[in-house]
Amino acid sequence: MGKKTAGFDIGGHALHIAVVTKKGVKRVYTEALPEGAVREGRIVSYEAMGDFIKQTCKKQKIRFDDAAVILPSGLCFCRRMNIPVMSHEQLTVNLPYEFRDFITSEKEAYFYDYAVLRTLRDANEEPAELDVMAAAALKSTISDYKSMFRRAGIKLRTAIPIEMSFVNLLSRIKDGHCHCIIDVGHTSVRLYMFNGNRFESSHMIDYGCSALDGAIAEALHIDPFIAASYREANHDDCQNLPECESIYQNLAVEVQRAVHFFRYNNPDIELEHIHLIGGGAMIEPLRRTLEETLSVPIYNASELLDVDGVETEFGLAAAGAALQ
Ligand SMILES: Nc1ncnc2c1ncn2[C@@H]1O[C@H](COP(=O)(O)OP(=O)(O)OP(=O)(O)O)[C@@H](O)[C@H]1O
Ligand SMILES: [Mg+2]
Repeated sequence: MGKKTAGFDIGGHALHIAVVTKKGVKRVYTEALPEGAVREGRIVSYEAMGDFIKQTCKKQKIRFDDAAVILPSGLCFCRRMNIPVMSHEQLTVNLPYEFRDFITSEKEAYFYDYAVLRTLRDANEEPAELDVMAAAALKSTISDYKSMFRRAGIKLRTAIPIEMSFVNLLSRIKDGHCHCIIDVGHTSVRLYMFNGNRFESSHMIDYGCSALDGAIAEALHIDPFIAASYREANHDDCQNLPECESIYQNLAVEVQRAVHFFRYNNPDIELEHIHLIGGGAMIEPLRRTLEETLSVPIYNASELLDVDGVETEFGLAAAGAALQ
């Protein structure tokens, strides 16, 4: 059967779990989180979340040997950097200094990790610089996550930033294309740009699907909480209300701006493979507005996962974590 790893992606709205073996992704599970469990990207109570993870795994009969989790961007810094060629030991010593503009506590309070993406050579073809993707997270964050999973009865093997999760997926498909993954989430929309399997940059738009609830509530004179269930089920075709349409338009313009900015800064990179993931990818009129505004086709996220019968819109990031 082989070892099974579960990847966990705890979002603002739902818990996504992907079970992965050496052969690939087996299944993806999504369970809506209790109201208020995550605020501004942070887990409010690690104990309560640990219990929720435990219940979800039990209820959905999810079995695996070890686990990987995605750390939210607010709790983990991820950046690309070029540094002179050096040994692993030297890199370990130097990484904290590379993060000095990002971290707020003492450098000893953080864990650092890195992956060398490539070695850049000088005019004489001698190795000159390392192109590195590096991450830093507070040791206390890692220990909070470890104890949360311990409470759920799960051994946490690794915790990674979402960018690294996508790198893992792109490293597997090895198509060498430039990909832009647009995660249409609950309270924000994030864009992640990749050149082959190299992470280039990201951009965040600070509103997401939940912004539609206010518009639907006002248009239909209902409670925003009820509006959320109307939105998900497209009750009374509410996703096509003119009030929602204008939010799709604004979002599409912001996405277009971010894509243009990236193209302007990276004229050599042909950003043609655009993928929509996250619950917002299920909103057909939003998808259409994005496609019309960007004037490029939007590919199915399954291209990145290389599996059939798995809901890639939800499980993509979780699957990439499990592949770490
Ligand atoms: N089938 C659907 N139709 C319409 N909207 C949906 C559907 N499924 C989920 N959504 C909505 O999409 C939004 C994002 O869902 P998703 O499951 O990606 O959230 P999340 O991963 O917890 O959020 P985030 O990544 O922003 O933290 C939510 O507001 C959710 O209500
Ligand atoms: Mg998400």
